[in-house]
Amino acid sequence: MILEWEIHTEKGLSLTPLLQKCADLAPAAEGIHTMCAVHVVLCDDPEIQELNRTYRGIDRATDVLSFPLIRYPKGKTAGDCPARLREAYDDALDAVMLGDLVISMDHVFAQAAEYGHSPEREACYLLVHGLCHLMGYDHMTEDEKAQMRKKEETILEQAGMTRTAGVSDETLIAMAQEAMQMSYSPYSHYPVGAALLCDDGTIYTGCNIENASFGLTNCAERTAVFKAVSEGRRSFSTIAIATKDSPGWPCGACRQVLNEFAPAIRVIVSCEGQVMEANLTELLPHGFGPKDLPENKEKEENA
Ligand code: THU
Repeated sequence: MILEWEIHTEKGLSLTPLLQKCADLAPAAEGIHTMCAVHVVLCDDPEIQELNRTYRGIDRATDVLSFPLIRYPKGKTAGDCPARLREAYDDALDAVMLGDLVISMDHVFAQAAEYGHSPEREACYLLVHGLCHLMGYDHMTEDEKAQMRKKEETILEQAGMTRTAGVSDETLIAMAQEAMQMSYSPYSHYPVGAALLCDDGTIYTGCNIENASFGLTNCAERTAVFKAVSEGRRSFSTIAIATKDSPGWPCGACRQVLNEFAPAIRVIVSCEGQVMEANLTELLPHGFGPKDLPENKEKEENA
């Protein structure tokens, strides 16, 4: 797909090759076999707010605006309408111009943080969402919404941009370092941060929280796990831990708590540029977990 870029922001410019990759997959996922083009503006909140006010009468910033050039019959999308696409073929461009997209990079970063996934994933999601609108998808009814979500996920999956795939170890470490800033450690002066990646792509962070009674201290890893579990997540793939001055593997209590939910979780430890990795199976060999309780053992034997 030809993306005609217009870049009015200094944020996240390294994301453009990834966005191009998603855009290249969209026409085929829709069953379009003609070259397509889209004009893409990357900007910040003030500019998208002005466009939203001018074209939609809504005076607030938003994440993505789409302006389709082609109208499709009700209930149909671009893939169902090859004749209409042929009519819209632009000889000078040697492609079918589908329309314009505007994406606010301020919203990309804010929403990535809010949803706990990477800015890469959020930017690709917004682009693909906008492209789907340009190809005739909408989300006014539950049915339409489900169809649109399915198409979006197909394209994102083909681009390797599922929610978890977009999260690099570097992103997780950066989030653990950020969480470390919140540490309450007036007794040990050893701040720790953790970022826990759940299988659905959500990320929970945590810091160590000390107590004058010392023994009630909660480690960063357990803070992150308890936050995740209390919000309904129990499947985890990776935990990144950040410390200062001296690297530290999770303590025994944290290993045991991680083992309850994710016996084979990847554990990444990062301290001022030094990064080490191990699997929990190495950190807690012969660990005691739910599988060792007699009732679960019986269930397994009878399965
Ligand atoms: N700490 C963690 O947060 N995670 C660990 O796995 C090891 C220790 C914290 C607890 C305490 O606030 C400080 O580090 C010193 O033990």
